[in-house]
Amino acid sequence: MNGSLFSKMKPIFVFLALPAVIWAYPQTKLFQSDWQDFSLRRIFIEPDNLDSPKFDPGLRIVNGYEVSPHQIPYQVWIIFRMTPGAGGWGCGGSLITRRFVLTAAHCILWAGLAEVYLGVHNISSDETNRIIVTTKKLTGHPDYNPTNITNDVGVIDLEQEIELNKFIDVVKLPGLGDLNELYEGENARVSGWGKTAGDGNSSDVLLAVNGTVLANTDCKAVFSIFQDSEICILGSGGEGICDGDSGGPLVAGDVQIGVVSYGTRDCVYGYPSFFARVTSFLDWIVENSDYVVQ
Ligand SMILES: *[C@@H]1O[C@H](CO)[C@@H](O)[C@H](O)[C@H]1NC(C)=O
Ligand SMILES: *[C@@H]1O[C@H](CO)[C@@H](O)[C@H](O)[C@H]1NC(C)=O
Ligand SMILES: *[C@@H]1O[C@H](CO)[C@@H](O)[C@H](O)[C@H]1NC(C)=O
Ligand SMILES: *[C@@H]1O[C@H](CO)[C@@H](O)[C@H](O)[C@H]1NC(C)=O
Repeated sequence: MNGSLFSKMKPIFVFLALPAVIWAYPQTKLFQSDWQDFSLRRIFIEPDNLDSPKFDPGLRIVNGYEVSPHQIPYQVWIIFRMTPGAGGWGCGGSLITRRFVLTAAHCILWAGLAEVYLGVHNISSDETNRIIVTTKKLTGHPDYNPTNITNDVGVIDLEQEIELNKFIDVVKLPGLGDLNELYEGENARVSGWGKTAGDGNSSDVLLAVNGTVLANTDCKAVFSIFQDSEICILGSGGEGICDGDSGGPLVAGDVQIGVVSYGTRDCVYGYPSFFARVTSFLDWIVENSDYVVQ
């Protein structure tokens, strides 16, 4: 992918989905899957001087494919709330050990608790293999910077060890031998329940998009705030991430290499999706969870 394909965009950052509406919510409803009442979280960048899309819209997390149920058993859906019973916001995440979930710092920001859904495919459905764990032990990266979206990782302590089965399993993170691996040009997959178009609705079944990891210089050519501790991919048909996919896993093969972080406003088709680079945060993850690097 040629960096000059993309226009330089003036970075202006806003949260799309603030937990602005806090309404009285009966405690008993906490565990029901009426998640559609919640906003979806994602950071976007104002597409100043945005070129016309590079690809024909046609397909569209935006233009993703439905994964076969439980094919990604480490994928979790998370509803964050400031206080129990308050309105919340939804994000993705991944189970990295029997006890810890990896997600984005911008999802954890302002949250007082998280409800983590494990073993789910259709989050609107009361699936029999589903487990929902509520916890207040949320740790966002202390150097997360909402202005330039750096260090956008966080972990959730489930405070108990989850039993693994074919619906719920852990993902592998890069090993010590992969620390200098850039994954440039590799095929990678991102998955989530986020919106299927900038003006669309979220998906109730898990969707995924495959794309190619771009060179850091090409990522930076799109958004100048891009850091080497981030990674970006371009969907093979221009597909990408959208609101509600935040915090979810980007994997190459069976290894998680990224955490969904940001993209263009309205999830513009044909532009890359941006992630926190897992190899840059392995130390932090190890210090803040019970993950052991292989
Ligand atoms: C998800 O589950 C809900 C509730 O059972 C159902 O109405 C909906 O059609 C399902 N979605 C898909 C895509 O199967
Ligand atoms: C991000 O922004 C903060 C403050 O706006 C600044 O102190 C920091 O150096 C920036 N980080 C990078 C990597 O540009
Ligand atoms: C999104 O969902 C709402 C409420 O169910 C519906 O009215 C609207 O048409 C949907 N929008 C799209 C683009 O599908
Ligand atoms: C998508 O990416 C995943 C993870 O790398 C891989 O296992 C899968 O084969 C890819 N699928 C396609 C259609 O490229």
